[in-house]
Amino acid sequence: MKKILVTGGLGFIGSHTVVELQNEGYDVVIIDDLSNASLDVIEGIIAITGKIPVFEKIDLKEKASVERFFQKHNDISGVIHFAASKAVGESVEKPLLYYENNLNTLIYTLKEVLNLNTSNFIFSSSCTVYGQADEMPITENAPVKPAESPYGNTKQIGEEIIKDTCKVNPHLNAIALRYFNPIGAHSSAKIGELPIGVPQNLVPFITQTAAGLRECLSVYGNDYETPDGTCIRDYIHVVDLAKAHAVALERLLEANNQSNFETFNVGTGVGSSVLEVIKSFEKVSGQALNFKIAPRREGDIVKAFANTKKANAVLGWKAKSTLDDAMLSAWKWEKNIRNL
Ligand SMILES: NC(=O)c1ccc[n+]([C@@H]2O[C@H](COP(=O)([O-])OP(=O)(O)OC[C@H]3O[C@@H](n4cnc5c(N)ncnc54)[C@H](O)[C@@H]3O)[C@@H](O)[C@H]2O)c1
Repeated sequence: MKKILVTGGLGFIGSHTVVELQNEGYDVVIIDDLSNASLDVIEGIIAITGKIPVFEKIDLKEKASVERFFQKHNDISGVIHFAASKAVGESVEKPLLYYENNLNTLIYTLKEVLNLNTSNFIFSSSCTVYGQADEMPITENAPVKPAESPYGNTKQIGEEIIKDTCKVNPHLNAIALRYFNPIGAHSSAKIGELPIGVPQNLVPFITQTAAGLRECLSVYGNDYETPDGTCIRDYIHVVDLAKAHAVALERLLEANNQSNFETFNVGTGVGSSVLEVIKSFEKVSGQALNFKIAPRREGDIVKAFANTKKANAVLGWKAKSTLDDAMLSAWKWEKNIRNL
């Protein structure tokens, strides 16, 4: 069976993708430096799939370690590159840390991918590349706007690095998946999102508030030009997102790609407001959430949801789960880790 490297494979999206790949029969090798993940995640993956992934604790910004790894594993058929630092706020405070980690890990990995017999590469990009897009839903042809944060900039530069490398290396085949807002957890509640410290994202903040870890959720602004005044995002179940990676990988392995650098939006195509997400949580959990309306937060984008036509028609992938499904899985996971 084909051997696939998943960098950052113990993280939130990476671990769910490892599960999907193992379920599809791939041999998975995980690299993670545990900077934002715990070794326990491996137990969760094994419990779900019954298969033990190979794990190597490597910091991908150490070039020599990356080279050594690929010398040992020169039979890899595809690489899915999740490893990156991802906290937008922290990236504003510590830009060099973000440029150093997110760009060096990409460059050193990509250099080695070029030397493989089959150079297939999937990159975790983000809808942040669009900024506040002029038209909804957002297509892949929407212009890339100046990045709002060093984190967002690393995604834009990352895509440029891959595109430029593809141009002069026709044997390199790459896909950048532009994720919208991943939420939820595996239905088994054995793996999920584990934010360190105060969650930066809405859904873990909701579940932690409901679990009693946080007192109250602040909804930043209810006077935006949206139907209920709160910001709108495209929330995608992490398992649907993980499946998109399996489909993209197959596309590369079977040489079905139309050019050697492709981009796809990975979202549901449905925009949900903050209040709708809260309502969904209250419905599936059967409990009221303590929240308050707070002033607008600087830098927040008002609306972002995907046009998924390209992913649906060209990639042959479509999100299946609803917002309620995702919120229920997130709540199940929170209850599991808090022993509620
Ligand atoms: N979660 C989101 O909302 C979102 C949205 C769009 C894009 N993304 C991107 O998707 C990818 C995965 O995100 P996630 O939410 O699973 O994040 P995560 O932090 O849970 O996972 C990233 C993993 O990479 C590891 N890592 C970081 N630096 C490393 C290094 N130098 N060497 C080896 N491992 C390293 C971390 O320990 C972690 O396990 C990231 O590239 C992120 O930027 C995430």
